[in-house]
Amino acid sequence: MSTASSFYITTPIYYPSDVPHIGHGYTTVAVDALARWHRQAGDDTWMLTGTDEHGQKMMRAAAANGATPQEWVDKLVTESWFPVLETLDVANDDFIRTTQPRHEERVKEFVQAIYDRGYIYAGEFEALYCVGCEEFKTEAEVLPGTGEFEGLKVCAIHSKPLELLQEKNYFFKLSEFQDRLLELYRSVPDFVRPDSARNEVISFVKNGLKDLSISRSTFDWGITVPWDESHVIYVWVDALLNYATAVGFGTDEEQFARRWPAYHVVGKDILRFHAVIWPAMLMAAGVEVPRGVFAHGWLLVGGEKMSKSKLTGIAPTEITDVFGSDAYRFYFLSAIAFGQDGSFSWEDLSARYQAELANGFGNLASRTTAMISRYFDGVVPEQGEPTEADIHIQRVVARAAGDADAAMERFRPDEAIDAIWTIVDALNGYITENEPWALAKDDAQRARLGTVLYTAAEGLRALAVLLSPFMPQATAKLWDALGIDGALDAQPIRDAGMWGQLPAGTTVGALAPLFPRVEQPA
Ligand code: ME8
Ligand code: MG
Repeated sequence: MSTASSFYITTPIYYPSDVPHIGHGYTTVAVDALARWHRQAGDDTWMLTGTDEHGQKMMRAAAANGATPQEWVDKLVTESWFPVLETLDVANDDFIRTTQPRHEERVKEFVQAIYDRGYIYAGEFEALYCVGCEEFKTEAEVLPGTGEFEGLKVCAIHSKPLELLQEKNYFFKLSEFQDRLLELYRSVPDFVRPDSARNEVISFVKNGLKDLSISRSTFDWGITVPWDESHVIYVWVDALLNYATAVGFGTDEEQFARRWPAYHVVGKDILRFHAVIWPAMLMAAGVEVPRGVFAHGWLLVGGEKMSKSKLTGIAPTEITDVFGSDAYRFYFLSAIAFGQDGSFSWEDLSARYQAELANGFGNLASRTTAMISRYFDGVVPEQGEPTEADIHIQRVVARAAGDADAAMERFRPDEAIDAIWTIVDALNGYITENEPWALAKDDAQRARLGTVLYTAAEGLRALAVLLSPFMPQATAKLWDALGIDGALDAQPIRDAGMWGQLPAGTTVGALAPLFPRVEQPA
C-alpha cells in the first residue's frame, strides 16, 4: 500500500559514454529541487538517478578505448558521473547502475514474467538502427545524409549514418496496448505533462503501435534473455526497468509498495519510451503504471540542441567553477519555462547572476543583516504595530509561499521561483521606501526602525526556507547568519509563509556576500 504522501521521483539514467553536460545537469537539478521541496514539506521522498550502462553504444566506446565494457563504464561512472552530483549539490537518495546484480536479476524475472503471460514472441526483423539513440527508426525519422555521409541514411537527431539490421528478435506485443494506453491518458489527464507532450503522445498512440523488438543477438553487452542465452535484452527495456528494480521490485515488496509508483522527469527526446513503452510493459506484467511523466524541453546552444556529438556540449563545471552551484541551479530552473526549450548563453547567465542573485537576493540579505548589526548590535528587534506597508509584506510572503507550493505540485520550478522572487522584489522596495538609514538618525523613530528591520529579517527567514531546495548553499549561509534555532532543513516548507516565526532577540551574525562579484570567463 502506498501512502498519499509518498513522493518518488526519478531522472533518466544517463549513458555514461557521454561526459556529463549541462543538459544532463538540467534534468538532474530540476529533479533534485522537486525532491528537496517535497522532503522539506515532510513527504516521504525518494530521489533516484543513475546510469544506463549496456548496449551497443557503450560496447563500441569501450572497444575504441581498448577496455572491456565493464572496465570502461566503471571508469566513466567513477570519474565523471558520481562527481557531477557533487558539483551540482544533488541530494539523491540512490544511484542505480544497470550493471548491478540488484538490477540485472530482476530484469530477467520481469522479462520472463511478461513472456510467461504471452506478451513476447519470436520473429524476423529488418530495420534501420541508430546506435546513438539505441533505437530502430521509421522512414519518417530518417534524413538523407550530407557531406561525408552523402548517399547514406542518417538519424534526424544524431546526423550520423543508420545501420541496417537483420536479425531474429523477440518482440513485445506493444500493439495490443493501444486502447489501454489511450484510456490511461484519458482517465489520468496529467499522466503526461506538459500539454504539448501529452498531445504528441496521444496522437502517436492513436496512429497505431507496432510491436517492439526487445532483444539483440549480434552482440552480448547486455542482460541475457532468460529463455534464450543467444540474445540480450534490448537496452531500453533493461534501462526503463531501473525505476522499479531500484526500489525493491521483486526483492523488497515493502520498499516497493512504499515508493512505487514514481514520477519520471525526462527530456522530450525520450518521452515516448516513458509515456508509451514503459506503461505498456508494466501493464503487461500487471504492475501499477507510473504516477506521471514530465517532459522538459531542450537546452539550446547557438540555436541547436546542445549535445556532445555536435560539439556544443558544455560541462557543468565550466559554469560552477565561475558562478557556483547555486547559481547554476537557480539559472536553469528560473530562466527556462519548465517544459519548453530554452537557449543558454553566458551573457544571459552573467546578467541574471548580477541582477537577480547579487543585486537582488544577495544585497537584500547583506544590507538587512548589516543594519541589524549596526543599529541593534546584531539582535533582531521587536516588531511594533504594523503599518499598511508592513502588512503588505506579510501578505506577499504568504501568497508567495502558497503559490510556490502550488507551482511545485505542477512541476514548475520556474513558476515557483517567480513566486518566491516577489518577496525579494517587495522587500528591496520596502527597504528603499522606508529608509532605515534615515530612521536610524532619529531617536524618536527607534521603534519604527525596529519594525522595518524585523520585517526585512522575517522576510529573509521565509526566503531562506523557500529557496533552500533551489540554492542549498546560499540559504544555509543565510540561515546561519540569521541565528535561528533549529536546522534549515527541518523547517516545514509548506508553513514558510506564516508570519512571525523569527523570534525577536535572535542574534544575527555576519554574512559574507552570498553571490560575490565574479571574474568573467574569457
Ligand atoms: O537517453 N537539453 O540517456 P542520455 C535538455 N540512457 N536535456 C538534455 C539535453 C539537452 N540538450 N541533452 C541531454 C538516455 N539531456 C537513456 C535514458 S532512461 C530509462 C534511459 C538530458 O544520456 C535529458 O534529460 O542520452 C535527456 O532526456 C537525457 O539527458 C538523455 O540522456
Ligand atoms: Mg541521448
